[in-house]
Amino acid sequence: MLEALWDKRALLVSGKGGVGKTTLAAALALAASRAGHTVLLAELSPEEDGPSPLAALVGARGAGLRVTRVRPRLHFVRLSASEGHRSFLEKGLPARWLAEAALRTRALRRFLEAGPALREMGLMYQLLTLLRRTRPDGRFVHPLAVVDLPSTGHALALASLPHHLLSLMPGGLIGRDVREGLDFLQDPARTAVVLTSLPEPLPISEALIVASELRRLALPLSAGILNRMPEDPFTPESRAALHRLLAAHGPHQGALALERLERARTAAVRLRRELCAPLLTLPELPATGLALTEALAGAFMPSPADALWHEARL
Ligand SMILES: Nc1ncnc2c1ncn2[C@@H]1O[C@H](COP(=O)(O)OP(=O)(O)O)[C@@H](O)[C@H]1O
Ligand SMILES: [Mg+2]
Repeated sequence: MLEALWDKRALLVSGKGGVGKTTLAAALALAASRAGHTVLLAELSPEEDGPSPLAALVGARGAGLRVTRVRPRLHFVRLSASEGHRSFLEKGLPARWLAEAALRTRALRRFLEAGPALREMGLMYQLLTLLRRTRPDGRFVHPLAVVDLPSTGHALALASLPHHLLSLMPGGLIGRDVREGLDFLQDPARTAVVLTSLPEPLPISEALIVASELRRLALPLSAGILNRMPEDPFTPESRAALHRLLAAHGPHQGALALERLERARTAAVRLRRELCAPLLTLPELPATGLALTEALAGAFMPSPADALWHEARL
C-alpha cells in the first residue's frame, strides 16, 4: 500500500489537531526517502515565523521559506502564502522586478493577506510551483511532496477554494492556474490525502465526517492511519479470564486499562468498516521527537521480522 503512495506527487496529511499529523508527515517523508525516493517535506503552517515543529522532527536546521536539504533525498520547506503570491505575480507580470515592486505595495499586500482564500491560493500556488520545477534533463526536482496540513479544515479549504475563486474570476491567468491546481488536487494519480485518527470514539467520528467531506469535494482519500493504537497483550481466552477476575475482585486500576483497550478496538473496527479506504494501524510508542519519527518511519517499512507494522486486521 505504501509503495502506491510513493508514486504520487503530493501526500496531504490531514486530521484533527493532536492526532499525530506532524509526526506522521515527518515519518512518511523519512520512510519514503529511505525507500529511495526523493522527498520534499512541506509544512503548511499558520504562521510563517517562529519555530517549526515539523523541522525539529526530522532534524532540519535553519528550516525556513527556502528549500533546505535535511539528509540525502530529503528536503524541507515551509510553504508561505507570500512566496506563492510572488511566484504568481512573477508569472502574471512581464518582469520580475515588477512583481517585487507590486509586492512592496502595502495596499496589494494587505489585499492578498486579508482574504483567507487568497492566502490559501498563495500556499497552494507555492506548492504547485515547487512541484512543477524540473531539472535540465526534464525530471522533476521534487517528484514527491509530503505536506503537513495544520488542520482538517485546511485540506477542505484548499479544495473548495478553487470553486470560490473560479466563481469570482472564471477566465484569464488566475482562472487557468486555479483550475490546474484543482485538477492536480483531485487527481488520484498525483494526490493522496492521508487521513489520520486516534482510536477513540470522538476522533473516529470526526475522521468519518472529514472522509465524507473529502468525497464531496472529490479529493482522493487514499489511506487512513489509525495512530497510537495501544498494544493489546491479551488473547480472547486470557481476556475472558481477566474479566472474570475483575468481576470477582471489584474495582481495580487494570479495569480502566482494559476498558481503554476495548474502546480502542471498537473504534478501530468502526473506522475500518466505514472509511472506504485502506487503513494502516500504528502503535503507541514510548518515544518523542526525532526518535519517534525514526521509529514510526521504521514501522512504515514492513519487514517479516517487524512486528510493529501491520495492516489492521480487525
Ligand atoms: N505513534 C505515536 N506514539 C506515541 N506518541 C505519539 C505517536 N504519534 C504522535 N505522538 C505524540 O502525539 C502528540 C501530537 O502529535 P502531533 O504530530 O504534534 O499531532 P498534530 O500535528 O496532529 O497536532 C505529540 O506529542 C507526539 O509526540
Ligand atoms: Mg501539527
